[in-house]
Amino acid sequence: MGKNLWARRNFLKKSSIIALGTAFTNHSMAKALNSFAINKSELGVANKPKAPITAIVLGAGGRGNVYSKYGLKFPDELKVVGVAEPVEFRRKRFSEEYQIPEKNQWVTWEHVFENKKLADVLIITTPDRLHHGCAMAGLNGGYDILLEKAIGMNWEEVNDILQLSKKKDSIVGICHVLRYSSYFRQLKDVVDSGVLGELLSIEHTEKLSMDHYMHSFIRGYYRNSKEAAPMLLAKSCHDLDILRWIIGKPCKYVSSFGSQTVFIKENAPEGSTMRCTDCPIEAECHMSALKRYTREKDGLHHLVIEDYEDATILRALKEGPFGKCAWRCDNDTIDHQVVNMEFEDQITASFTLGFSPVYGRTTIVNGSLGCIIGKLYEGFEVHDIRTGEATVYNSQIPQHLMSGHGGGDFGLMYDFVRAVRSQDPTMLSSSLEESVESHLIGYKAEESRHKIKTMEVNMASYI
Ligand SMILES: NC(=O)c1ccc[n+]([C@@H]2O[C@H](COP(=O)([O-])OP(=O)(O)OC[C@H]3O[C@@H](n4cnc5c(N)ncnc54)[C@H](O)[C@@H]3O)[C@@H](O)[C@H]2O)c1
Repeated sequence: MGKNLWARRNFLKKSSIIALGTAFTNHSMAKALNSFAINKSELGVANKPKAPITAIVLGAGGRGNVYSKYGLKFPDELKVVGVAEPVEFRRKRFSEEYQIPEKNQWVTWEHVFENKKLADVLIITTPDRLHHGCAMAGLNGGYDILLEKAIGMNWEEVNDILQLSKKKDSIVGICHVLRYSSYFRQLKDVVDSGVLGELLSIEHTEKLSMDHYMHSFIRGYYRNSKEAAPMLLAKSCHDLDILRWIIGKPCKYVSSFGSQTVFIKENAPEGSTMRCTDCPIEAECHMSALKRYTREKDGLHHLVIEDYEDATILRALKEGPFGKCAWRCDNDTIDHQVVNMEFEDQITASFTLGFSPVYGRTTIVNGSLGCIIGKLYEGFEVHDIRTGEATVYNSQIPQHLMSGHGGGDFGLMYDFVRAVRSQDPTMLSSSLEESVESHLIGYKAEESRHKIKTMEVNMASYI
């Protein structure tokens, strides 16, 4: 997003050509946000259920904790009654926080299924490579499921889960949390309102900060295709999903290009060593792990350590993946990628993924009568071709909502709980059936990138 645009936005704000929240009309979460803004407690009181939905969390890491917190805020709606987590200190902390009895604390997800069904739902927040096993066992065990993205490591895994969920008639919610963010909900409402005329194309980008790219895709869990889904899926199935959701029509063709060119052994700085902890040029290196974790004390939660004492951090950097030289890891992820898509009715979309000091998600939607130009967390403008006028949406959510992904984490849980309670998957915008096509686009894009060939995306053949 260029500075000029935001200067113009400020001008428009001052000129009072501004609409705040006017597009919040159709969504249950939007209504929830509005009630939340008035009185947080009213949210629970208005729809007070007879008993909370019970949940077992598989993987009590970052995301497992985020979703479970909903139960602490709204105990009438959700109660966490079990956890499977191999890291002992995480399992213990989580169990204490949610008062989970010892018999419902398991070291690994497989142990959960040695018992009969113990709860209404499973919250699956294990690493990507375990999603398929957890979800298939959960569906066979009769659970409804909240499943983190990426749904599976490849299309075959995704399709297995889709087919079994249909057979079992289970609710499976996918954590495509951006669908629930106030920013994208407003943006979709504007597109659906028809003010842009005929929808022609979307240009969407996601740029990661260097820190994010470094800890997740160079040194961390998503660095290697044996451990995690390809970056386009692991990071950006959100973005493909948002494009499919906004366009609201099937994707027909996809092509993609992209490579890993920067953080490879051949580019390692002269004189560097395998680890930052003994590297003679560490002090002048912008990718130094010591700089980030010991001097700036940033991103420490990625290290999976029990405490943040200096000696513990240093030991993790000497022995674990997060102290390795950024050019000498076993990463095979792309560092830049472009995906081009054609949807039904000749609507086109492009998506660009990479890292940049100027990071975030930007979206331009082009219609026959106008366009939207916006940046997640900041807002968007709607420009009218005929009048030259613009309307600004700032997509602010109430500060006290305290929910990540622009309100998306809260919105997902709000709708998921209601969908399970009413046994109605249509109350959930990111049900499995609604979400799988974006994964198919992603896997076909990867196939295109490897084969240097345009691929057909034929979702209809799987439903
Ligand atoms: N929706 C989003 O915006 C979003 C954001 C970040 C991550 N994710 C996804 O969420 C998932 C979890 O990511 P995270 O950031 O919470 O990672 P994390 O590493 O913080 O948490 C994963 C947890 O699973 C545990 N685990 C490993 N093996 C296990 C096993 N056999 N049984 C049970 N638990 C096991 C790990 O010890 C860890 O605590 C990933 O699939 C990731 O792609 C989604």
